[in-house]
Amino acid sequence: MTLKQAALDVREKAYAPYSKFKVGAALRAPSGTVYHGCNVENAAYPEGTCAEAGAIALMIASGETVIDELYVVADAPNPVPPCGGCRQKIKEFAANGDVQVTMATLDGVEKVMTVAELLPGAFDADFLDKN
Ligand code: THU
Repeated sequence: MTLKQAALDVREKAYAPYSKFKVGAALRAPSGTVYHGCNVENAAYPEGTCAEAGAIALMIASGETVIDELYVVADAPNPVPPCGGCRQKIKEFAANGDVQVTMATLDGVEKVMTVAELLPGAFDADFLDKN
């Protein structure tokens, strides 16, 4: 299963009754396994979660911790970039700054950016080390 197909399929399952904006995400871990996620909204709006966060949660719950590649798709005129919070979540697990994030529309328009491009100057665990 390609990342694109996995993201398209899981997008259909998104729970987005408030925004009506369904998003699907799929990532590949070093094992080759594809983990997917969709946005899950809530009547208490801030409690909603993004598709990327869902895919990362599934990866972690499955015992893997590294993202080699990520694909995000939404029904929008232009490829939708991950929100700021998701950029930080992606950065936490990306194999390195060169990991590619493909953003896509349902019409097949794709834009590729690296994790380093999406989140320059990222805060990471190194900053927690006081020594
Ligand atoms: N959303 C995602 O799931 N991923 C993104 O990259 C952008 C935004 C969701 C959050 C919310 O459920 C809806 O899209 C509208 O913001």
